[in-house]
Amino acid sequence: MAGAAERERWSSRAGFTLAAIGSAVGLGNMWRFSYLAAQNGGAAFVIFYVGLTIAVGIPVLLAELAIGRGAQQSPIRALVHFGGGAWRPLGVVFVAAGFLILSYYSVIAGWTVRYAWISLTGGFGENVADRFTDISEGWDALAFHVLFMLATIAIVGSGVKAGIERASVVMMPALFAIVVGLAIWAATLDGAGPGYAKYLNADFSKLGNWDVVKDAAGQAFFSLSLGMGAMLTYASYLGRDENLPSESVVIAGADVAIAFIAGLVVFPLIFALGLSDAVSASTVGALFITLPQAFAHMGAVGQVVGALFFVTLIVGALTSAMSLLEVVVASTMDGLGWSRHRAAWVTGAAITALGAFSAFDIRVLDVADQFANNILLLGGGFALCLFVGWVMPDPIAEVRAGTDGVTWFPIWRGLLRYVVPLFLGFVLIRSVPATIEAVWGLLSGS
Ligand code: PHE
Repeated sequence: MAGAAERERWSSRAGFTLAAIGSAVGLGNMWRFSYLAAQNGGAAFVIFYVGLTIAVGIPVLLAELAIGRGAQQSPIRALVHFGGGAWRPLGVVFVAAGFLILSYYSVIAGWTVRYAWISLTGGFGENVADRFTDISEGWDALAFHVLFMLATIAIVGSGVKAGIERASVVMMPALFAIVVGLAIWAATLDGAGPGYAKYLNADFSKLGNWDVVKDAAGQAFFSLSLGMGAMLTYASYLGRDENLPSESVVIAGADVAIAFIAGLVVFPLIFALGLSDAVSASTVGALFITLPQAFAHMGAVGQVVGALFFVTLIVGALTSAMSLLEVVVASTMDGLGWSRHRAAWVTGAAITALGAFSAFDIRVLDVADQFANNILLLGGGFALCLFVGWVMPDPIAEVRAGTDGVTWFPIWRGLLRYVVPLFLGFVLIRSVPATIEAVWGLLSGS
């Protein structure tokens, strides 16, 4: 039994910070952020997104950190610890969300493994779009999904310190260095000028639309790994001497910074070839077709740079997948008394099996992604605000531990009580019907 006395811990403050940044930085930053920005008015979207991250993302992130560190338990137990049995279902939804998100996230991650390999060993041919269809659905997609899950399970199965922390401490600085290096290289491309112009010129006319607000809010939650207990679980391995407010600012800052820098890589690349229209088509595959096309036109340089680009995607995806699996594993260990090893392999196998549906049908992947973002994460965030704002006894005392006292704590609680739930409530009302329709369409059509 994994009793409280033997609970695992991060070995250092940097270990936690890098693991949490690893959870946040992932496919969301490099894969979705750029096409959302391209579609929704460039810098106007970026500014709006940063505002949302500050006003909504950081408060909810701090709320998750407070619950996790305060309870020193996995999500289901932590919610029951502070709120009683009525909150158990929310914890169960968190675990289910981790299960569902990882099932399709790993399929996309599998594409990136395949892509890195193709880049390195000869590059992409002319017909990248056809190639994408081959890679993204079917046995190939399944095989690379399984491979990626095996890596995730092996790391998480090794423990918080020896697995998650050790992997993050090595991988995250490397990821950062490569992304910055790629951005510097991208500045030398012909497309850099028009690419930056599209990215950094603000077209505010696109913002007056609820769909953009919904997309930006969903992206902020997805990108910060909020609304399903991932940050909560990581914080449960922290001691009371850590400064949670400053951690939340550092994590959110790093997440936004890497998304922004990734945009500095992606935009010049697509404009170097005049492919800008292709990317604004908001489909799962947009970047997986457009970017390889750009790399294919650059010969040997494209091979190397393409491989590096996809390796950073793999690293980002892996450190994020670890946190998704950790939610499920920690809950299984606490709830069923299983060993870490057993929990990781059994739940990981079940998630791998669920992912087969996404691997064989990209529409399943797309709808699962919409459902997870628009309903599970935003709904989970909504519930978390109410929980910490109204139910948890004295959350301010919890976040104060480890700090010198910060004057904006009452503002934080006010945001959690009124502002953020109201905002998320509106977004949910707007997004739930369309999402249900999409889910229904998929279920009735196939
Ligand atoms: N934040 C990760 C990304 O941007 C995805 C993620 C979502 C991870 C939810 C954990 C929990 O890719």
